[in-house]
Amino acid sequence: MQFKILKKDGFARTALLETKRGVIHTPAFMPVGTNGTVKAMTPEEVRDIGYEIILSNTYHLYLRPGHETIKEIGGIHRFINWQGPILTDSGGFQIYSLASLRKITSEGVEFRSHIDGSLHFISPERAIEIQIALGSDIMMVFDECVPYPAEKQYVEKSIKLTKDWAERCKNYFEKQRTNQSLFGIIQGGVYDDLREKSLEEIVKIGFDGYAIGGLSVGEPKEDMYRVVKNVTPLMPEDKPRYLMGVGDLIDVLHAVEHGIDMFDCVMPTRNARNGTLFTSRGRISIKRSEFKDDSTALDPECDCYTCRNYTKAFLRHLYMCREILSMRLNTIHNLYFYCKFFEKMRTAIAEGRFQDFKKEWLPVLEKNFS
Ligand code: GUN
Ligand code: ZN
Repeated sequence: MQFKILKKDGFARTALLETKRGVIHTPAFMPVGTNGTVKAMTPEEVRDIGYEIILSNTYHLYLRPGHETIKEIGGIHRFINWQGPILTDSGGFQIYSLASLRKITSEGVEFRSHIDGSLHFISPERAIEIQIALGSDIMMVFDECVPYPAEKQYVEKSIKLTKDWAERCKNYFEKQRTNQSLFGIIQGGVYDDLREKSLEEIVKIGFDGYAIGGLSVGEPKEDMYRVVKNVTPLMPEDKPRYLMGVGDLIDVLHAVEHGIDMFDCVMPTRNARNGTLFTSRGRISIKRSEFKDDSTALDPECDCYTCRNYTKAFLRHLYMCREILSMRLNTIHNLYFYCKFFEKMRTAIAEGRFQDFKKEWLPVLEKNFS
């Protein structure tokens, strides 16, 4: 995997992340395909909208259908019919947010499946073994995502665990014959000194890219912004930087300003299914009665399939009737909006006008159109 910075504008940068399954233009957004599918979309639709990489979850695919099944079928790309790059999260985060009866020891985590209550154990080695079986292009280390709020003493112990696990992931990874890449994850909660320590330890182990984890877990925005601002200058300049689970576009603007290259979030897809749509005039809740007779497009400035062909009145109607098509058309639009936003942001960086781009978009993103 090669990372080539094309242009810097302040700390913001636009780059090419070259993988054997294709090039990713950064800053990049990764739509989330938890169960190996970006909900309501075919892989062709996701690709045609313009996405170059998707994210999937080790935790979910391990439980169902099982990584061995996916391996037998020829790996995750074949299984889900997506030939581009795939990043798999390690399961660390999902075990904390979904599984029950978690028992964390230095060895790993024992937990019960959120699907059938069955008992499982995942160690750092096992998390890499599963991701190798899946065959993703970018694997993530097994980490502990600390909830918010958390006592400093707890977070201090946790970054030690995350460091030990990162070392074990790297050691296991190096003994395998795989051309997959492995990213490290920095933790440390909202404590600046612990973030700095975690970063030092993870960078010392050495990975193909570095992620900031443990943010967007309920902490105040100012904490998230401060951590990103303080950590990014200490991250290796020549490796991709990934802010995990962040996808509010206001947060994205702040993070890109400080040199983040990759993002993932369920926001565009989940909001679409809930009828919240992003437009060039602000956010729209499509269920509102004022759209009952609205014969205009959702976003007159959008060229997506939904905006080219349907009225707000019809989109509202589909939503009120809970039609499957509502989720499809809304998801097409939100994913298109995000994709274009990132495209325009990359161009702005390339042309040295990221600050103007940020100033132009912040008021739009803060606005509720209705
Ligand atoms: N997704 C969002 N936050 C995190 C995190 O801290 N760790 C992992 N593994 N995945 C995440
Ligand atoms: Zn549209």
